[in-house]
Amino acid sequence: MDSPFLRTESPTPLGSLSQLTNSRPLHPTRCIHTISQEDNNSVLSLVASQRYLFSGSQSSQIHVWDLQTFTLVTVLKGHRGSVLGLKLSEDEQYLFSSSGDGTVRVWNTETLKCAYLIQSCHDVGDIFSVVYSDITNKIYFGSQNTSIQWYDFADPQTHGAINSDIPLIPESPRKLGTTINFFEDGEEHDEEDRIQAELDKDVIKCVIREKNVCSNAHDGYLYCLLHAKDIPNMEGEVLISGSGDGDVKIWAIESNGIKHVHTLKGNPDKGVLCLALSEDGYLFCGVQGGDVQIWDLETHQMIRSVMAHTDDVLAVSIKGPGFVSASADGSIKIWSEGFQFRESLSDHQGIVLSSTTSGNYLISGSNDHTIKFWDIPSYSSPSFEPFRRSSIGLQEAPSSDTMLYVLEKWIAMRTVSGNPKYMEECRRGARFLKNILQQLGAVSRMIPGACGRNPLVYGKFIGKRSSSEKSIPTVLIYGHYDVIAAENEQNLWGTDPFNMTGKNGYLYGRGTSDNKGPILACIFAVNELLKEGLLDVNVIFLIEGEEESGSVGFYEAVNQNKELFQDVDMVLLSNSYWLGEDVPCITYGLRGVIHATVSISNKRADLHSGVEGGAVSEPLIDLIHVLGKLVDNNKKVLIPGFYDNVRLITESEERLYDPIVEWMKTSETAQSSTRAHHSTIVSSNDCKQNCGNETQCKILIAKDEELDAEKLKQKLMARWRYPTLTVHKIDVSINNPTIIPRNAKAAVSMRVVPDQTITDICGQFEKYVQDVFSQNNSDNRISITIESAAEYWLGDLNSKYFKAVENAIAEEWNMKPLYIREGGSIPAVRWLEKFCSAPAIHIPFGQSSDQAHLHNERIRLLNLHAGRRIVKSLLTALPNLKD
Ligand code: BES
Ligand code: MN
Repeated sequence: MDSPFLRTESPTPLGSLSQLTNSRPLHPTRCIHTISQEDNNSVLSLVASQRYLFSGSQSSQIHVWDLQTFTLVTVLKGHRGSVLGLKLSEDEQYLFSSSGDGTVRVWNTETLKCAYLIQSCHDVGDIFSVVYSDITNKIYFGSQNTSIQWYDFADPQTHGAINSDIPLIPESPRKLGTTINFFEDGEEHDEEDRIQAELDKDVIKCVIREKNVCSNAHDGYLYCLLHAKDIPNMEGEVLISGSGDGDVKIWAIESNGIKHVHTLKGNPDKGVLCLALSEDGYLFCGVQGGDVQIWDLETHQMIRSVMAHTDDVLAVSIKGPGFVSASADGSIKIWSEGFQFRESLSDHQGIVLSSTTSGNYLISGSNDHTIKFWDIPSYSSPSFEPFRRSSIGLQEAPSSDTMLYVLEKWIAMRTVSGNPKYMEECRRGARFLKNILQQLGAVSRMIPGACGRNPLVYGKFIGKRSSSEKSIPTVLIYGHYDVIAAENEQNLWGTDPFNMTGKNGYLYGRGTSDNKGPILACIFAVNELLKEGLLDVNVIFLIEGEEESGSVGFYEAVNQNKELFQDVDMVLLSNSYWLGEDVPCITYGLRGVIHATVSISNKRADLHSGVEGGAVSEPLIDLIHVLGKLVDNNKKVLIPGFYDNVRLITESEERLYDPIVEWMKTSETAQSSTRAHHSTIVSSNDCKQNCGNETQCKILIAKDEELDAEKLKQKLMARWRYPTLTVHKIDVSINNPTIIPRNAKAAVSMRVVPDQTITDICGQFEKYVQDVFSQNNSDNRISITIESAAEYWLGDLNSKYFKAVENAIAEEWNMKPLYIREGGSIPAVRWLEKFCSAPAIHIPFGQSSDQAHLHNERIRLLNLHAGRRIVKSLLTALPNLKD
């Protein structure tokens, strides 16, 4: 069971570890060098090769600087207007410049001479941006006349031969740029042309063909272009364009042109001025007015709009896991992982117009004529999930246990739902899963969740079908990658919750059991069948990121992608636990759950209790009165009608409890499972040996507890088949012992069971709470909100699937599983059953001591591997099941 990839000890005590990662860097960003452009003109564009920095000037020149000595090497002359865009070919042999003179030039970076001069067949106005594809050997540029045009070096159209005396640039006065005054007498004009002709005598002059123009690519100026390969959901080369119309468009580069594939709809008041793409699939757009918009190319959602500056954002660059923005407000700002603001640099004396990176340095250009080099410390370790499949590095993983290698990486991602702080981390976790599914043989993609919610991950493995078969079964495996936070329990954990640690046969870490471990076991089961040529069913994985937050947005998201979930025969999940430690189980029921908030407030502000006390109705007292009447001293819920529809117990249902009670009488590990759910520890010695943690050891078995079959049964039923009501917390608007808070609210949940309906229970709850409140004679206001609701689920034990699961489990564990229900809830289960018209099957992998949601969450390695084998054998059996 030993794997070289599992640490056996946590390397650092938790306290110091978190201090380390949260501490500020030792040195903030420093400007290490400043150079001035000797023509005293604004620095409009920048690009750096290994050797040189090229700066494009408003004066039409390109300055070439030596990056080692920060000295001027030469000045590239030729353009007759501002140099607006600069790019290098991948091999850095060519520099491409676009200009306000309506042309693009290609420079040889070895000879530092102009090699080509490219112009359009139209008057394009300013060319703001140019990119080059070394794969197709084409130059693409975007310009003021809203077109995207391209020059194809494989299909050249030159302006006659070298040394041609055909005029370079069509006579359009505005193209002569800002530095040449063409209204002066013609002689000077001719002189300029003569010098220009001399300069360009060895330059090949090229014209864009009519067919290489995509006119009206946008409804506004085309300010920026970006070239990329294999972005999320798109194989091959793409162009991304940003425009004054506020939109970003994605274009597929095809052999005969470009094809529009997607528009990221922005705001027409916020023209897109600059773009940068990170390795993990985020597109950063600097826009007019000062925002930086961040789009997830995986889901095409704008996940953030950062109010970065007070004026136009003119340049963005990727820096580590964050980004850098430069603005017309004169500042450069540094944003670290999670798009947290870190630093503002205001050394420039004017507008910051351009930026680029070279090695670890950021380089910025301004209208103060200077170029500054910055050394930015790394604020956080560059841990991101790249969108390129090849870069996951599964091949580096040992063949012996790829599953654990992957699980360890995934556990390290804090995919906590319900807290905006972890939103990016959740996306990283989702992207990681998508990549893993793809690498293991599935077709995979992400499905956008509701606004502000985490995306879902979809992956489909196609089973093989012999020519005689019309169709093969399809299984939908549901799970969730979101986890419960762990920071509030840090001192209770024996190891770092996000650093998976193996100990005595268990894997410890947040999400090892709920639900990342079981999900990976299922994925690897399918992958193994695929590799062995034994996958005779289609398997769809649907892994969501909001389960722990009530699956908000799940139904909507799935519904909008109906076509992905056709012909599902069975829904499978593994997201609960055995009843004890030593007997495998099948879960055939879950309770539903309704989450509600009761909020009581007065019409005024917070009040001084000495001044006002006795003269006002207090919201918190009102709330306590209401809450106090929800449940009586015998745990009975007092809402009228609450129990009316609870299904009456039958003889046959009662008999289902017999094997469980039998087992409980004999098993040591069973007893405590009737006490608290996640609390079975065999003995204090075993416990100490297992986790070495005194806290966990407090939960011990009460050896003296009388074993009474009837009592046991009642306890199980109270958890599984009867409804209940919980008050989770009370919040007040202010926490001060001299103040009457103006608002008090409580979070209440109700677990619902067959045959209670959500609508009935919600209605009864609201009415009762209102009634009780009105008895308070209070002048405060009450509001009741239903936050989320999920139906109960009860499987059909007679279905062929239960028998198949029972066989697969018995085969693995050499014993018959116990049929159990659970008091917990998984909102998606009943919904998926209805949506797919297919029954759900729930196979718990972990044991009752897994401590889901609690400190020291874990799963036994043996159970994880057994679970993987059970799923393999179940999937193999499915095609041959008889009704
Ligand atoms: N895996 C659990 C469901 C569960 C809990 C099964 C206890 C068996 C025993 C799931 O991840 C969960 O925590 N569900 C929440 C759902 C809620 C947030 C809507 C629950 O039951 O509270
Ligand atoms: Mn959970």
